[in-house]
Amino acid sequence: MLILGLETSCDETGVALYDTDRGLLAHALFSQVDIHVEYGGVVPELASRDHVRKTLPLLEQVLAEAGCSAADIDGVAYTAGPGLVGALMVGATLARALAWGWGVPALGVHHMEGHLLAPMLEAERPEFPFVALLVSGGHTQLVRVDGIGQYRLLGESLDDAAGEAFDKAAKMLGLPYPGGPHIARLAERGDPARFDFPRPMVNRPGLDFSFSGLKTYTLNTVNDCREAAAGLTEQDRCDIARAFEEAVVATLVIKCRRALRQEHLDTLVMAGGVSANRNLRATLERALAKEHARVFYPAPEFCTDNGAMIAYAGAQRLLAGQVDDEESRVRPRWPM
Ligand code: KG4
Ligand code: ZN
Repeated sequence: MLILGLETSCDETGVALYDTDRGLLAHALFSQVDIHVEYGGVVPELASRDHVRKTLPLLEQVLAEAGCSAADIDGVAYTAGPGLVGALMVGATLARALAWGWGVPALGVHHMEGHLLAPMLEAERPEFPFVALLVSGGHTQLVRVDGIGQYRLLGESLDDAAGEAFDKAAKMLGLPYPGGPHIARLAERGDPARFDFPRPMVNRPGLDFSFSGLKTYTLNTVNDCREAAAGLTEQDRCDIARAFEEAVVATLVIKCRRALRQEHLDTLVMAGGVSANRNLRATLERALAKEHARVFYPAPEFCTDNGAMIAYAGAQRLLAGQVDDEESRVRPRWPM
């Protein structure tokens, strides 16, 4: 079965072709970062307009790359939520129109299910059951996964998502949006011993997270440096970025270990934009190796938003016989 996947929930247009026998045949991505950078965040209207411009050219590109024609496609999967309503509607409308025209089923997919299953695109795949850490700009969740569609939320952020915290801390340090990769680059040159940022909620039982206090702590540290004789220096910025990153990483790692122990599992899957963070990957690998547990994550290009994960998740559900009906609609807020 050949499935077309469309991702348009936020500021990346992703299109991919996934074949249930041959795997991922082609994928293309257009990032709108340059469009939104001057506003310091995603402007919903501009995002929707650009998805309209990019989806069809990207579709032509992946068909050519895969050496397929539209007539080969057996189903169309699209991100139905959560996300920006206008952006979601561009993908949903196009997907459903194409599916109708081609006489094949369409299916709306949950964006976070796409992230969660993205490691399945790799040659070495995790086996069910496992614990998934989903860390993106909008979500920080620990989920027990027993199979496709069998998800139980173990814990989540009570306030900001980890990616959102990265983006806000980046803004305080004068870095562009999205800030995660910029913080990570500064942090490489930072001294981990200079500042000791709090690890929020690690001393409380349970698997929930909170990152808003860390944000305040970062702001206070930036302000303290600004008031010093030398002002906020380049080294201060690197040291703050490092301390911030260390605190987020340590918090995530502690909760992942706790989740695996609680669920008596030895496999962790990490996905979502923040899972591209190299410090997080390395620290998690080291910590889990000590517990004889393994961690799986997608290739960096499939950590952030992409069409391949939507094509994959849609293919699994279409194989199981699910299809959209007339009542199907986009869901800007949609608990998994
Ligand atoms: O999954 P994603 O592409 O979009 C959402 O569904 O939110 O995640 C984007 C988030 C942003 O907050 C971005 O700053 C963060 O992922 N991010 C990173 C890194 N790369 C992306 N955070 C930390 N380190 C990175 N290397
Ligand atoms: Zn995402």
